[in-house]
Amino acid sequence: MKVVPVRRDVKLNLNESRIKDWHEGGAHVTHFFNALSVFFPAGERMFMDGVRNYKDQVKNPELKKAVAAFIGQEALHSREHEEYNEMMDRAGLPATKLDKGLWKLLAVIQKGLGKKLTLAGTIALEHYTAILANAVLSDKRVLGDNSDISYKQMWTWHAYEETEHKAVAYDVWNEVMPDNLQNRFVRRLAMVIATAIFWPLVMYFHLRMVLADPNTKGKHITGFMTVNRMLWGDMGVLRKPIGEFFDYFKADFHPWMHDNSDYLANIDSFVEEVNKLERTPNEAVKKAVRARLSKSATVAAASVA
Ligand SMILES: [Fe+2]
Ligand SMILES: [Fe+2]
Repeated sequence: MKVVPVRRDVKLNLNESRIKDWHEGGAHVTHFFNALSVFFPAGERMFMDGVRNYKDQVKNPELKKAVAAFIGQEALHSREHEEYNEMMDRAGLPATKLDKGLWKLLAVIQKGLGKKLTLAGTIALEHYTAILANAVLSDKRVLGDNSDISYKQMWTWHAYEETEHKAVAYDVWNEVMPDNLQNRFVRRLAMVIATAIFWPLVMYFHLRMVLADPNTKGKHITGFMTVNRMLWGDMGVLRKPIGEFFDYFKADFHPWMHDNSDYLANIDSFVEEVNKLERTPNEAVKKAVRARLSKSATVAAASVA
């Protein structure tokens, strides 16, 4: 294996007062990233399940270790994004409402598509997270020089680890699925389904965030144009990796065929930097997250009983 990921317990302690305008590009850009944050708790649970369903069939000891670290990393990302999303709720943004709907949708999708397509969907969406992570790591303008440092660190940490574990789900697929016509088709089909569901939802979540924030009123034209420039213009967060995206459909695709492992040399010093800042934990937010999660666990248990 090219890279074996490592689980790191990082606590970001975001600056709650900047939740609606942390990005130097303004509220509309801030809400684009905020909308992406809503996807992580439910989405990363699907990724963990996708890989966990097959982990007992993995025999390669290095890959076994990578699978454990993959699950550990995604669980910690979710923990931090739960706090991020809670802050949005407290600021009047509909993060929890959208998150609830997403949990329901993904549960239906996972049940309907089965284990194999769930793993294939995980590979497809991990390709998207790898592409977005590379955009964050390769161009400082994406997060903005003068944006709030706590959010910049949150997204940078997530981008490093998404890069570090980008091949794990794919390597599991390669080890447990026979290489035949049907499985090659399923892997590609999953990307088509994932794309058709993910991007319309991103646009919808973004719109909901923007419309829920009174500070965006009267600024929609310039605001959406700034987001558009970031995605398709000079920065080209989505324009530049179009070729990488289509590589997914090639027979010899592997996530490390786009080798950006050089960035990984900086992870440990970056994590040290985050820890050195010792931002104060937001106890009110932590308490609200705990209450919300225990309530949803009780509802889930009651529906099973
Ligand atoms: Fe993640
Ligand atoms: Fe991931």
